[in-house]
Amino acid sequence: MAKLKIGFIGCGGIANQKHLPGMKQQAEKGRVDLVAFCDLIPERAEKAAKEYGTPDAKVYTDYRELLADPAIDAVHVLTPNISHCEITVAALEAGKHVLCEKPMAATEADAIKMIEARDRTGKMLTIGYQYRHFNVNYVAKKVVDEGWIGDVYYAEASLLRRRGVPTWGVFTDKSKQGGGPLIDIGTHALDLTLWLMNNYDVEYVVGTSFEKLGTLLDPDHQGQNNFRGEPDHWNNKTYDVEDSAVGQIKMKNGAVINLRASWALNMAEDRGANGQAHTMLAGTKGGLDTFTGQVRLNHIVGNEMATTMVGRVIPNFLPGFSQGPAPLSKEHDIWVTALEANDPSKLFVTAEQAYVVTKILDSIYYSSKHNKPVYFGEDGRPIYD
Ligand SMILES: NC(=O)c1ccc[n+]([C@@H]2O[C@H](COP(=O)([O-])OP(=O)(O)OC[C@H]3O[C@@H](n4cnc5c(N)ncnc54)[C@H](O)[C@@H]3O)[C@@H](O)[C@H]2O)c1
Repeated sequence: MAKLKIGFIGCGGIANQKHLPGMKQQAEKGRVDLVAFCDLIPERAEKAAKEYGTPDAKVYTDYRELLADPAIDAVHVLTPNISHCEITVAALEAGKHVLCEKPMAATEADAIKMIEARDRTGKMLTIGYQYRHFNVNYVAKKVVDEGWIGDVYYAEASLLRRRGVPTWGVFTDKSKQGGGPLIDIGTHALDLTLWLMNNYDVEYVVGTSFEKLGTLLDPDHQGQNNFRGEPDHWNNKTYDVEDSAVGQIKMKNGAVINLRASWALNMAEDRGANGQAHTMLAGTKGGLDTFTGQVRLNHIVGNEMATTMVGRVIPNFLPGFSQGPAPLSKEHDIWVTALEANDPSKLFVTAEQAYVVTKILDSIYYSSKHNKPVYFGEDGRPIYD
């Protein structure tokens, strides 16, 4: 089988932490060639090409030029949220399959355009929700699917950081990202929870986003440290996204999901293991949560309440974060398998699932701004009036 030719648009943080090392593993298996790298900052594309590309890899600053190369089979769209739609649609129209980073799009309307372009072109589209591949979440999925907790009627999806405002990239710039922690990390927690529940039928959404700490407080006195434990300051003069958000999602079958996300919230501790997105599911037979980094199943055994730890704690670092041998990136393994087979049924994260995440997040922002719940029409689209 001829090796697939892959291009990358955006060579910043997530490209270096996940996609470049993850796809390098696939190149080392002889399945793909990494042939094209694009970034508005040419040094980033050059560095990526040198470290990960074939000897004749090409470097671009304009993604349209990369897309004009007919030899490229698929691209990874790794740019800030606001450009996901434009670049993905252009890539699909140019005949490329697309793996786009999360969230699928900054708005529900953009996500619809991406699905329409996929359907028009017959190319494949998937979204980078790698949390689903973490061991703890594979185990949680099995526990739910095997029926251990029965019908899930209440869930909590959260990623709450006491202080964890990203100070790199453009995360605090609404014009580039479309929002703050809700669209950045809440998106992971919500994707996980919907997937575990296997329930995508939304009745209505109500929510509130808070713009309190990002701009009002002097970040010099916020106590935030970076990954190396050094003081880390965000710019409270340019910060224009929410710093926390909550939403309630009522599903058509009556189930309720409470979604919570924060980069800065005055609470004693972060919610979750290793700052990762996690979920709590309550069902008719039992419940589970992943707060500890392991699946904690609560159920009734011998007429008594029991709590069972299921699975082992396995560090789930992205390949680019690994100090030792990089763990196999399942996200990229599955993606390349779907590409080789040219078979969308082999994709793990479907555009339809990612669309529901984006429409819920968009609806929470709308609900907060207009102070009312958002219902959905016959076509499943939010009714904004
Ligand atoms: N899956 C995850 O856990 C995860 C983690 C971090 C970021 N992300 C997502 O990845 C995307 C990028 O985030 P990041 O942290 O890598 O940001 P970043 O700022 O570090 O990198 C983005 C890169 O894209 C480049 N770029 C911007 N517009 C471009 C364009 N039109 N053409 C070519 N290059 C362009 C920028 O110059 C920059 O180098 C965002 O959508 C973000 O939500 C996902």
